[in-house]
Amino acid sequence: MSKLWTNKTASDSKLEQKIHAFLAAKDIELDKELICFDIEASQAHANALASIGVLKGDENSKIQQSLNGLLQKIKDKQFELTDKFEDCHSAIEFYLINELGDLGKKIHTGRSRNDQVLVATRLYSKQKIIQLIELNKNIASTLLAKAQEYQFTAMPGYTHLQQAVVSSWGMWFAAFAESFIDNIDYAKKILHWIDANPLGTAAGYGVNLPLNRDLTTQQLGFSRLQINPIYAQNSRGKFELSVLSCFKQSMLDARKFAWDLSLFSMTELDFIKQSDVFTTGSSIMPNKRNPDVVELIRASYAKIQAAYQEVENLLSLPTGYHRDLQFSKRPLIEGISEALSCLDLLPELINDLTVNQEQAEQQITPDMYKTDLSIEYALKGVPFREAYLEIKNNTMDLSGYTPDKSIQNRTSPGACANLMLDELEKRLLDN
Ligand code: ARG
Repeated sequence: MSKLWTNKTASDSKLEQKIHAFLAAKDIELDKELICFDIEASQAHANALASIGVLKGDENSKIQQSLNGLLQKIKDKQFELTDKFEDCHSAIEFYLINELGDLGKKIHTGRSRNDQVLVATRLYSKQKIIQLIELNKNIASTLLAKAQEYQFTAMPGYTHLQQAVVSSWGMWFAAFAESFIDNIDYAKKILHWIDANPLGTAAGYGVNLPLNRDLTTQQLGFSRLQINPIYAQNSRGKFELSVLSCFKQSMLDARKFAWDLSLFSMTELDFIKQSDVFTTGSSIMPNKRNPDVVELIRASYAKIQAAYQEVENLLSLPTGYHRDLQFSKRPLIEGISEALSCLDLLPELINDLTVNQEQAEQQITPDMYKTDLSIEYALKGVPFREAYLEIKNNTMDLSGYTPDKSIQNRTSPGACANLMLDELEKRLLDN
């Protein structure tokens, strides 16, 4: 268990081992997600060092080659990050020293693990937000297809879980489609917000070298520089929160959608059917199919929320790097991975849904047309409040109303007869 920061040979006493394990915590496991980004950033750093003459002649190309080799070995599973290293940063440096001898020892000139972990985490986060955007797109487009399929299919609209007015399945599906389209927009804004290069800020105070930070910004594909080294360190955790917030937005929608499905598939309502693949049987009750997938999607929100809170709670710190910040990695990486695997199920789950049209329509009671009738009175000149009270207090003949007619009369933008699915489709494609 050698360390980068000492030339003492590790004695590996019991206590040292215990402390090593405590300090590394789950870093080795988590750094498996970061190591390739760390290598990419190390390559950019070496190029930047060469550009200011710190690496000479063919030194940089040897480092580049060696790092490419390491990337390939990771892909081919010939290199494994194990707990003989402190973290992925030291593993990369040990690898270079092992391959290139003294030249490998030059890689860390002008950088610190503090800016190394920042840049690797940032590149990782950007990639994950891009994956989230793609998933949001798939989900939104599946929802739009369902909205089209059930555009004019009636369902009861509820407020307070009490019957309210006529609604449509088209409107319900389109509601979630619009929400997921907005999530794309939100994620893109956060993607831009975190797209700033922290590499070259070292331990949080810069170094006595004219580091070519513009070169690393451009090579790593960042849209701007994170200028101030203290700010770069202080943004650790703060940026992670914004990344997690994108995942929270989508998971909030997933939770509400799952809640609706669980309600709509309740035996007495029976509005929605799912195929057997999305439900499970009971070990004791032969009569049952249970919507377990939907329920675990609903429950998954708790995990992303917990991850968010865990990071937030770590941030009660003064300026600069503190080892506390290492603990922001686990909630970030695990929160994201759980959210992605949950959201990944949604397109197929949505696609699989069938609406029990007859049953949903049957639950629309005549009372639900009373709002329509009040408005019709108002159109004939009766002040709305008077119309409302008259209809509320008297028995009315509502036999001429049907769900279809009620839907067709709702023509304002967004309402049942005018869901503006084309506009939603356009927003999705423009995103
Ligand atoms: N594993 C550490 C982290 O995530 C890496 C940075 C270590 N820096 C230090 N000064 N000990 O924060």
